[in-house]
Amino acid sequence: MSPILVLHCIAIFGTTLVSAFVVKWLPNSSFKLPKNFKDGKLPCSKQTVVFPQTIVGSIKIASGTEVGGFILPEEGELILDGSLTLGSNSADTNCTEGNSYYLDVSYSLWRQADVWSSPKFNQATPDSDRIPCYNDEVEFPTDAKYTVELPTRPQYVKALRIGNKSYTSDELVLRINAQSDEQQQFVFNKFMSTGIRIKQHMSCSQFGCPCQMVPLKIDCSTKFCPKPSCVSPVKPYGFCCDICGGYVVFNPDQGFDLKAFNDLVDNTVQAYDKNSVEYYIGFTPEIPLSRIQLVIVDKGVYEGSSAEIINSISYAIHAHWVRGQKVAEISGSPLDKSGLGGKIFVSMFFAVVLSLGALYVYYYKIPDLRFPIFSPNGMENILSRYQRRSDSIVSLTRRDSVISGTSRGSTAFRNPLYSSKRGRVEVVESVVED
Ligand SMILES: *[C@@H]1O[C@H](CO)[C@@H](O)[C@H](O)[C@H]1NC(C)=O
Ligand SMILES: *[C@@H]1O[C@H](CO)[C@@H](O)[C@H](O)[C@H]1NC(C)=O
Repeated sequence: MSPILVLHCIAIFGTTLVSAFVVKWLPNSSFKLPKNFKDGKLPCSKQTVVFPQTIVGSIKIASGTEVGGFILPEEGELILDGSLTLGSNSADTNCTEGNSYYLDVSYSLWRQADVWSSPKFNQATPDSDRIPCYNDEVEFPTDAKYTVELPTRPQYVKALRIGNKSYTSDELVLRINAQSDEQQQFVFNKFMSTGIRIKQHMSCSQFGCPCQMVPLKIDCSTKFCPKPSCVSPVKPYGFCCDICGGYVVFNPDQGFDLKAFNDLVDNTVQAYDKNSVEYYIGFTPEIPLSRIQLVIVDKGVYEGSSAEIINSISYAIHAHWVRGQKVAEISGSPLDKSGLGGKIFVSMFFAVVLSLGALYVYYYKIPDLRFPIFSPNGMENILSRYQRRSDSIVSLTRRDSVISGTSRGSTAFRNPLYSSKRGRVEVVESVVED
């Protein structure tokens, strides 16, 4: 149930029976954690561990670690704890040589995508609402190592715990001022404050409560976006990635009733097939908070149910609920069912390429055609032009991908060998991904 619905229930029933959700901090930079490696497996003794170019926090290499070697970052801090064995172990027969890529989660922002987990999140929850909301309890584990940069925009939460200890707003400031080399580090925002207000009660707008009164600008830079499996995917407000499904957005008018809207959505979903989709109702993350957004996605593999349901809800929304314009967007058919459309597109594409090719031949061949003897070199020339053009495209993207990882953050050490080694490694990586 979304936060605004929860508040609405209080308004209707006049109770304070709000079931607060727990929202947990996820990052754990432990070197012994399979999910911190690109292939989801711990490196074995014949593998070379490649660190990203920059590590912002610090990483502890646990005692007893056995790897083939390290390609160290250009900047960063690694703490060796006990013994470390380098070089391949021939007794380790179940291990093939290669690279293992460590993903840096040692330093994360409160407003980063995918750093929070909660049972209330579903597939339709925008990234902008996958954060602790005003009525949530925030939980930081004590058996993980991480650094958290606190938010600049004020965030209200109901409670905050680090391990088993609860903190008030003031106690949190004291904890941060007193911290030295704890495994869990909290970094003040640029205003030298926590940005966190721990408060039990909130009063919101007549249409209900948004997740936060001042929405956060979510940092999507580290989020992995899978390729959507549909024709013309959509990007609802607050999402980092394009998705298959649909959404409706509108300004609520005076006559808008959240409960009635929720019933309408619920009934439509039930009538369709209640187990085939997931939905989320919330405010769009803009200032001032004024628009209501409904997002629906298919559970599991996209079949198009969500798009159809959005379509029928969009028609069924009462005119007196909406002020101004209502916008609905849905994605197209699933990719595996769009074979025909795909083929038409491809053949159209070839038709265009062919006619362009004809034009090209027409303009470039005319001088040749003046001579009665057809020169075989003419054809070669055309081909080599095409060849050269496609070559230059390839080299441009390659250069781009090397530039994109420019260094930032404070310098702990520099590894002058990194660029050359990393450069070689990256070529291998891109070949594998292709
Ligand atoms: C060796 O690898 C296979 C497949 O990857 C795995 O199922 C098996 O448990 C591994 N054996 C050992 C001793 O690690
Ligand atoms: C963090 O990783 C360490 C090492 O694998 C593990 O013992 C610990 O339980 C993890 N913490 C959390 C909260 O997942």
